[in-house]
Amino acid sequence: MSIRVLMVCLGNICRSPMADGLLRQKVALNNLDIEVDSAGTANYHVGSAPDHRMIKTAAKNGTPIDFLRARQFSNHDFSAFDYILVMDKSNYRNVCALAPDQLSQEKVHLLLDFLSDEALEEVPDPYYGTETDFQFVYDLLDRATDSFLAKLKNYTK
Ligand code: 4NP
Repeated sequence: MSIRVLMVCLGNICRSPMADGLLRQKVALNNLDIEVDSAGTANYHVGSAPDHRMIKTAAKNGTPIDFLRARQFSNHDFSAFDYILVMDKSNYRNVCALAPDQLSQEKVHLLLDFLSDEALEEVPDPYYGTETDFQFVYDLLDRATDSFLAKLKNYTK
């Protein structure tokens, strides 16, 4: 059975679609049995494509994300996914507050917890940042998704 992974941030237009796109690309390249999606804790951007600056950085680095559309995290996601990987501690609190039981809450992890030897605990929000900040987020998420995949066992088809 597939492993189901949900990436979560605040708006679902910068960090989580980038994490989603990177993981999807690696899953496809390596023919892995993993389903990937993303969502935001807020509803500000529901139905929108990712932020144009994130799309541009993603494309420049060879990872298309323009086809993704924002949606809001819902209670249903606790049963639909095995791993709920959040970008920062605020996302962690917001998602855990909706968890119906202990098992659901145990599915929620900070994505950077999977990146050993990383000083940062949170993926910084690039929304009010510069092109350099978007590239920083891309590089961090590229390493974090590699590390997450390396730590999953028995995921090959
Ligand atoms: P994200 O970034 O959580 O990485 O998608 C943000 C996008 C939009 C807003 C905040 C953060 N906003 O306030 O609209």
